[in-house]
Amino acid sequence: MKALILAGGAGTRLRPLTNAIPKPLVPLLGRPLVMHIIDSLPKEVDTVVLAVSYMKGALESYFRQNDCGRKVVLINEEEPLGTGGAIRNARQYLDEMFLCFNGDVISSLDLTAFLDHHRRHGGIGTLALWRVADPSAFGVAKMLNGRITEFQEKPSPGTAVSDLINAGTYAFEPELLDHIGDGFVSLEREVFPKILERGLHGYQFTGHWVDCGTLESYLNAQSVLIDDGEDVVCVQRQEGARLIGANHLDGVTLSHCRVGPHVCAMRGSSIMDGSTVERSVLMEGAQVGKGCVIKDCILGPGAQVKDGQTLNGEILVRGSSA
Ligand code: GDD
Ligand code: MG
Repeated sequence: MKALILAGGAGTRLRPLTNAIPKPLVPLLGRPLVMHIIDSLPKEVDTVVLAVSYMKGALESYFRQNDCGRKVVLINEEEPLGTGGAIRNARQYLDEMFLCFNGDVISSLDLTAFLDHHRRHGGIGTLALWRVADPSAFGVAKMLNGRITEFQEKPSPGTAVSDLINAGTYAFEPELLDHIGDGFVSLEREVFPKILERGLHGYQFTGHWVDCGTLESYLNAQSVLIDDGEDVVCVQRQEGARLIGANHLDGVTLSHCRVGPHVCAMRGSSIMDGSTVERSVLMEGAQVGKGCVIKDCILGPGAQVKDGQTLNGEILVRGSSA
């Protein structure tokens, strides 16, 4: 079976981090987002097709250097074709039922149970659905007896027809391709409303689900995974450092500081005397000087925070000033 991962978005909501790293390669607990998806695939998936566009070279070189245990094929779009156009562009690989993923979603969905559900209920496709309090930032599905009867993409506040959202994981029959025209096509806005009568089913699940496309949701995903027990502590130098709550620290230098909860610090990063870091990520080699207060931040690879700085809710990269 093939799994198609939509990985061509520009990741605008994670800029400036995504100016240098395509969103699928943004590390979450030290592993690229897209690898969290690939690692969760059932055994029957032997080929991963990545629909790429933005920063395709970086993705190519990642998969050349890292064997993920499955065949990986990259399909390029000269210009982004939208989520529907990207699927159509990969059609040469999609000759039987396939899994399809938004490349920026982390979830506890049991894919084997999800595929069973699709096989049992038939129809052109099945969408994984997740319940939220405010669905306005997502695709919204109204269900009747397991079938989706209405789909709205990002309804304006107060107009959503349900609180079940499209979790960005699909099982599709190849027939879907007959309903996607040439050029730029949005799967959610243009295709879903058209194929409802072909039998589009919903599969609601619980556990955890996070779209990692914004600073807030990325940090949320990180907290969820850390709380789920993906806890690594490997600290190179820890003089007078206080670790608070669950964290993910791997090859980090700490000195008389206060770290946590929900901090991920990757190899080569450091936090110096008198600093406090809470609910943030320090990517490879990021450095926090002395007497800093860092909360709800992404510090990209090699980012440096000078002594005495306070940062709240910021994305900082190498070379940007703080
Ligand atoms: N290849 C390719 N080409 N991929 C694309 C393109 C494109 O033109 N545009 C977007 N993608 C990829 C993104 O990289 C991402 O992995 C996925 O498609 C979804 O795009 P986002 O830009 O992240 O969409 P969203 O988060 O606003 O909304 C989508 O996800 C929600 C769940 O997280 C929709 O599918 C919503 O319905 C859904 O609720
Ligand atoms: Mg998204």
